[in-house]
Amino acid sequence: MAFGIPTKSAPTSEPSARGAAVGDLVPEARERGRDPDGHASAARAMFDRIAPTYDVLNKVMTAGIDRRWRSRAVAALHGAPSGAALDLCAGTLDLAALLERAYPTERVVACDFSAKMLELGRGKVTRTESLVADALALPFDDGAFTRVICGFGMRNLSDLRRGLSEVRRVLAPGGVFVTLELFAPALARSKAFHSLFAKRVLPAMGKAIARDEEAYGYLSKSMLGFVTRGEYEDMLRDEGFSAVRGSDLTLGVASVVRAEVAGGPA
Ligand SMILES: C[S@@+](CC[C@H](N)C(=O)[O-])C[C@H]1O[C@@H](n2cnc3c(N)ncnc32)[C@H](O)[C@@H]1O
Repeated sequence: MAFGIPTKSAPTSEPSARGAAVGDLVPEARERGRDPDGHASAARAMFDRIAPTYDVLNKVMTAGIDRRWRSRAVAALHGAPSGAALDLCAGTLDLAALLERAYPTERVVACDFSAKMLELGRGKVTRTESLVADALALPFDDGAFTRVICGFGMRNLSDLRRGLSEVRRVLAPGGVFVTLELFAPALARSKAFHSLFAKRVLPAMGKAIARDEEAYGYLSKSMLGFVTRGEYEDMLRDEGFSAVRGSDLTLGVASVVRAEVAGGPA
C-alpha cells in the first residue's frame, strides 16, 4: 500500500509504482505534494488496473446520474471564447465525447496518465486527440486552450495546487475551467451520508463488480480526504482564477465549480 493506494497486484512494470512507500497521504489532499512522483505512479498503476470495470462501476454506483452531472459540467463551460477544449484526467473519455458534440468546430484534446483508461474510451469519440500526459506537467503551451474541464480527476492529484496552476497556465485569457468533483462534505448531515457511502457501499460494490475492494477503498478515502467545495474555490482564487462559482448536484453528492481566467476578448 503506497499513499493509501493499493499497489500489490498492479500489473505494471514500473518499479516506482510498487516501491513508492511511506504513509497514507490520502486524508491530506493539501499535503500530498511531499512526494508527488511516488503518489502519481501508484495512482496510475491503480487506474490502469481498474480501467476495464471503471465504466460499469460508475453507472452502478451513481445509478446513471453521472450522465446528467457530466452534461451539467459541459454546459458550465458556456461563455468561454472559442478555441480548443481540454478534457483533463479524461479517463474513459465520457466528457471528451460530450465536448465533441457541444463544440463541433473546435479542437478537442483529452489527456490522462493512464494509457489503459484512454484506450478503453476510444470507441466513444471520433475526433478527440487523446494523449498520455501528467496533469502536473502538461505538455501544452501557455494559453493553448479556452476551455478546460476535469471530471473526478482533481481529487486524485498528488499535488492539487500544482494541478490548478497547470490548468491556469494552459488557459488563455478569458478561458473557463470547470471542475466536476466529489468534494469532502462540509455539513454534518452530508458527512454521515458520504461516510456511509464511501466506507461501506463503494468498497462493497468494488469488491462485487471489479473484484478489487482495495482500489475502491482508495477511491472512498480520496473522497473523504479531499478538500470541501469552499476550500477548493478558495484555492482557485489563490491561483489567480476569477468569477469562481460552485453549485451542488444531487443534494451535494457531486458539485460543479466554474472559474475564469481574467481578460480575453472584450
Ligand atoms: C476517477 S477517474 C475520472 C475519469 C473521467 N474524467 C470521468 O469523468 O470519468 C480519474 C482519472 O484521473 C486520472 N489521473 C489521476 N491523476 C492524474 C495525473 N496526475 N495526470 C493525469 N491523469 C491523472 C486517472 O488515471 C483517472 O483516469
